[in-house]
Amino acid sequence: MTDVEWWRTAVIYQIYIRSFADGDGDGIGDIAGIRSRLGYLAGLGVDAIWITPWYESPNNDGGYDVADYRAIAREYGDVRGAEQLVAEAHRHGLKVILDIVPNHTSTDHPWFQAALAAPPGSPERARYHFMDGHVVPNDWRSTFGGPAWTRVPDGQWYLHLFDPTQADLDWSHPEVRAEFLDLLRFWFDRGVDGFRVDVATGLIKHPGYPDLGYREEDLLVLTDVPDHPHRDRDEVHAVYREWREVADAYDPPRIFVAEAWVADPERLARYVAPAQLHTAFNFPFLQSAWDAGDLFTVIDSTLRTMSLSGSPSGAPPTWVLSNHDVERTVTRYGRAYTRKHQGRSGHELGPVDEDLGRRRARAALLLMLALPGVAYLYQGEELGLPDHMDIPDDRLRDPIWTRSGGRRRGRDGCRVPLPWTPAPDGAGFGSADPWLPQPPGWGRLSVANQVDDPASTYHLVARALRIRRELDVPQELEWVDRAGSVLRFRRGPDFECVVNLGDTEVPLPAGTVTLLRSDAHAAAGDPLGPDTAAWLRVRGDGTT
Ligand code: GLC
Repeated sequence: MTDVEWWRTAVIYQIYIRSFADGDGDGIGDIAGIRSRLGYLAGLGVDAIWITPWYESPNNDGGYDVADYRAIAREYGDVRGAEQLVAEAHRHGLKVILDIVPNHTSTDHPWFQAALAAPPGSPERARYHFMDGHVVPNDWRSTFGGPAWTRVPDGQWYLHLFDPTQADLDWSHPEVRAEFLDLLRFWFDRGVDGFRVDVATGLIKHPGYPDLGYREEDLLVLTDVPDHPHRDRDEVHAVYREWREVADAYDPPRIFVAEAWVADPERLARYVAPAQLHTAFNFPFLQSAWDAGDLFTVIDSTLRTMSLSGSPSGAPPTWVLSNHDVERTVTRYGRAYTRKHQGRSGHELGPVDEDLGRRRARAALLLMLALPGVAYLYQGEELGLPDHMDIPDDRLRDPIWTRSGGRRRGRDGCRVPLPWTPAPDGAGFGSADPWLPQPPGWGRLSVANQVDDPASTYHLVARALRIRRELDVPQELEWVDRAGSVLRFRRGPDFECVVNLGDTEVPLPAGTVTLLRSDAHAAAGDPLGPDTAAWLRVRGDGTT
């Protein structure tokens, strides 16, 4: 694999900047905090970092409401600091991916402010979706709840598929298209290696704005409606063809990963077709229950889907277990049952057994990191962090909570500031009073504690990343066993991964040597207990 092709097999660490590390002690993570921890990330062994939006923003949706795409929010730093961060990351051997939010701007963005100041029908309003009407223009809903339209004082309505402070741009407008090409260049010129494309499926809206036939259960769920009026419309691909040309004009070429919640594998493959986006997140993997049959189906169909991309060398599959929008893996897998629940944050979903969840999460990490292609780690996943389930109501910040009138808890539980040390106040985050409260005893799970403990999840991940890099196994995957509750596959002749998702022990296959196991206290040759995984070297001579 040449360096130019790094994105085909990379392990990419997601930094939720507000909660990663606080460099200036104001309780909010920032660029200085990231810069101070690049050594930690390089030591962990990841290849790249993806930083969630750090742009100027009123922060009504965790920065996904951008007021100025060329400026950094003051609480995070400035563009100079961002450039230094990129250069320093590169010196540590880490690529840097930013988040771009093309579907909507903040209503604080100068374009929207100009639209508000201008009359109906003006060129300023044409960059967004403004409609006349005595009643709401159609039945489209905001992902965070309520109608997707808000009325301005002169009686017109504007579209927002998310928060009312996130106005959807009209991508049929040439100025919108040109502006984003320029934005890509702005950050690529500063050394950035790629972008994660927020809401990549959403940009194009049906010009007639037809009713959708909305149902309550469609919220945040994969929606597979043919000719959907605002999701996954065919015209969106022309946008990404233009973006790819911009990225390919750089040396080395820059890359994209699409946030594309699309249920139909053939539709998903269209985003990673030749001359479009390089990769797309694999959300069905994240949504799968802890169940051998479900996981096999997702893995197998992912590999087939990527071969549909039509790209000569194939689009690499990606794997993700966790991010800033869903429950952390330890919490999700620690529930009393394994029913598929779409990965939503859900305190209403039943009690959580954290030890069980962590055991499964550790096994799932070995499974994910043994698969071909790209893997994403969400900050704190390497520490086996759970969600914070008991954030007091008055500290919750997610618009899903604030806009639903307290009916849906939202995503704050997975966004809690990281514990760096065992310190009782703030757990070494940088301030005694982080912007979101940490659970009691958070410091127990801190980086400092785990670095000192060879059995920790930190060391499991660090070892896995080192072995993954050293072995550099072929990208092909061959199933050895997928019957019952064991998943077992080979990558090339020498490397095997076995995961026991059942209730009983299974012996390790004959003729193998254990490289790594998710149950740190077991001896290398012990049978594999329930909810554990192992990486094995195949000796081929029948001995263990
Ligand atoms: C994406 C982001 C999410 C955000 C939404 C609106 O889904 O991951 O955090 O709320 O887009 O921008």
